[in-house]
Amino acid sequence: MHIGRTTLSKFVIEQTRGAHSEMGALLIDVAAAVKTISGLVGKGALSGFSGSMASTNVQGEVQKKLDVLTNEAILRHCEWGGQLAGMASEEMDAPYAIPAEYPRGRYLLIFDPLDGSSNSDVNVSVGTIFSILQRSTAGDAEPADFLQPGARQVAAGYAIYGPSTMLVLSVGTGTHGFTLHRESGNFILTHPDIRVPETTREFAINTSNERFWEPPVQRYVSECKAGKTGIREADFNMRWIASMVAEVHRILMRGGIFMYPKDNKDPAKPGRLRLLYEANPMAMLIEQAGGAASTGRGRILDVVPEALHQRVPVMLGSREEVKRLERYHHEYD
Ligand code: AHG
Ligand code: MN
Ligand code: MN
Ligand code: MN
Repeated sequence: MHIGRTTLSKFVIEQTRGAHSEMGALLIDVAAAVKTISGLVGKGALSGFSGSMASTNVQGEVQKKLDVLTNEAILRHCEWGGQLAGMASEEMDAPYAIPAEYPRGRYLLIFDPLDGSSNSDVNVSVGTIFSILQRSTAGDAEPADFLQPGARQVAAGYAIYGPSTMLVLSVGTGTHGFTLHRESGNFILTHPDIRVPETTREFAINTSNERFWEPPVQRYVSECKAGKTGIREADFNMRWIASMVAEVHRILMRGGIFMYPKDNKDPAKPGRLRLLYEANPMAMLIEQAGGAASTGRGRILDVVPEALHQRVPVMLGSREEVKRLERYHHEYD
């Protein structure tokens, strides 16, 4: 039973009272979309939506049926309320204009509807990542309105669809985790004020790309692998889930570092992950939990976006480890 415990709605209404009360209403709609998606992905093969579409998205990725459906779910749940000036998604070439019949607001909702979607057919955790920015006035968003550095985010969060569904959120007052109580449909505050543990020794990186990494990342990872036989004070463990939400969630719960660095496999791409849909919201959540998030050469939240689908190197997690990686980058530059 959770009578008397804090629900997401109560938390959001209390935290956004005043200047951002309309954002509170928007966050409650985002949570409704997350519950719809949780129900859909939780059905697995029984949903009838396994597998891929014939289409590719603007990222050049073959879209899963669930990429498209989850994108629709967020648009439909959030377009009507009058809080938004526009939306942008990993799965849409251009920003989504709010339909004429609905009122406009000043917020911008930016999202990755299904993160880790390559895992959706193999029953491994997937998620949804979102970020909220604002423009100075209500009205239809221009594409340029979305190109604000992540430091200007007014809220960020993700949902993880694992053995339990959780929503992890920051409105700039720490990072807080809510667990979906499926019977009542309520998100209950189970993880208030999450802090990234400092002492854990765990790294996450796709080592199949090792030969393409830059020297500072090669050095850092080889030192982690050498552990106490090398220069490090402890032996390290490694994980790679290929769902960023699941890696970030693990780091928020028990520490560690996650890296998707720049590599020279495709010189046109300065990294795999997208600045607006993935890197910025996760960077805000990690910083609000006392961790650090860097490109290797500077704070992710300070990067000024030049394009909607821009990619960026990502290194985030326990502060000391991220600082060490930044030091190695500066030594080689
Ligand atoms: P998405 O499914 O939204 O396209 O994102 C997948 C991302 C991220 O979740 C994960 O960290 C990374 O891609 C995995 O990439 P590799 O397949 O190269 O390991
Ligand atoms: Mn994708
Ligand atoms: Mn993603
Ligand atoms: Mn995705």
